Amino acid sequence: MKPLKVGIAGLGTVGAGVMKLLAAQADLIAARAGRPVVVTAVSARDRNRDRGVKLDGLNWYDDAVGLAHDPAVDVVVELIGGAEGKAKALAEAAIAAGKTLVTANKALLAVHGVALAKAAEANNVTIAYEAAVAGGIPVIKALREGMAANQVSRVAGILNGTCNYILTVMREEGRDFADVLADAQRLGYAEADPSFDLDGVDAAHKLAILAGLAFGARIDFSSVHIEGIRRISGIDIAFAQELGYRIKLLGIAEKTEAGISLRVHPAMVPMEQPIATIDGVFNAVLMDGDFAGPVLLRGRGAGEGPTASAVVADLIDFARGIHVPVWGMAESALEEARLVPMSE
Ligand code: HSE
Repeated sequence: MKPLKVGIAGLGTVGAGVMKLLAAQADLIAARAGRPVVVTAVSARDRNRDRGVKLDGLNWYDDAVGLAHDPAVDVVVELIGGAEGKAKALAEAAIAAGKTLVTANKALLAVHGVALAKAAEANNVTIAYEAAVAGGIPVIKALREGMAANQVSRVAGILNGTCNYILTVMREEGRDFADVLADAQRLGYAEADPSFDLDGVDAAHKLAILAGLAFGARIDFSSVHIEGIRRISGIDIAFAQELGYRIKLLGIAEKTEAGISLRVHPAMVPMEQPIATIDGVFNAVLMDGDFAGPVLLRGRGAGEGPTASAVVADLIDFARGIHVPVWGMAESALEEARLVPMSE
């Protein structure tokens, strides 16, 4: 069988993780995908950095957009990050070139997802983004496929591994914020700019993507209420514990008759709630379907292995010939959302 040829842009924690996973599980992936999945081309800032992966024999691009035009690339994997700049230019070029785009870029999808979906629909290509939300939890597939027969009224949970890790270690070890953040960065959990994690923006990006998918609605990212964890102190965490609560950064998207409300903020969660027990880098996503009832998924929300696992799952889908419309339905079928501000 003809191999699926993959071009990867961005060789940070996740990009290197994808290459390692594809090499380590090559036989298993070929058997499940029905053909080998091989990396043929890469692009990154620094060619000489040691990432623990072999780049010999691969086509190299200083400018990531070159991947989109390489005839030796069937699928473009965008792991550059950021809503604008190189990541957006590559996504647009891949779609225009008629190539499937696999991305872990939540910022890009939260801000430009609808425009990209429209372009993908016009060019008859797929954008796959399992890795953009909740790392190793297959939440996109769960919502799009598992809940396909339901009206979903709520998607909520812990969507940022870095913040959950920081809040957990502050509580368990009494260490201070900056010290624990440095650990999260070293472990490859935090964004290049960790203020996106700490200020709740990363969780809000993921919430906007989940809401678009769950409610079949065009979500305006600027309408998400966002508050991060910078003001949470060790004393807040200790008092919450004494009162029987855990402090968690939650993302909550709800659809009511009044419209859709979207918010990210720290919350006191009663200790007996399952979400209160999700610690460390783990994420949890709760979805309420009218027929399925409540469904709760938990798993590692960040880091090399879990995120690479989600990227490669999308590659295997594509190698098998599975093409899904971007939001689980044609972009043209998305509804205009009535978004309810927090004060209503
Ligand atoms: N910085 C993100 C997090 C990475 O900590 O959740 C995964 O999206």
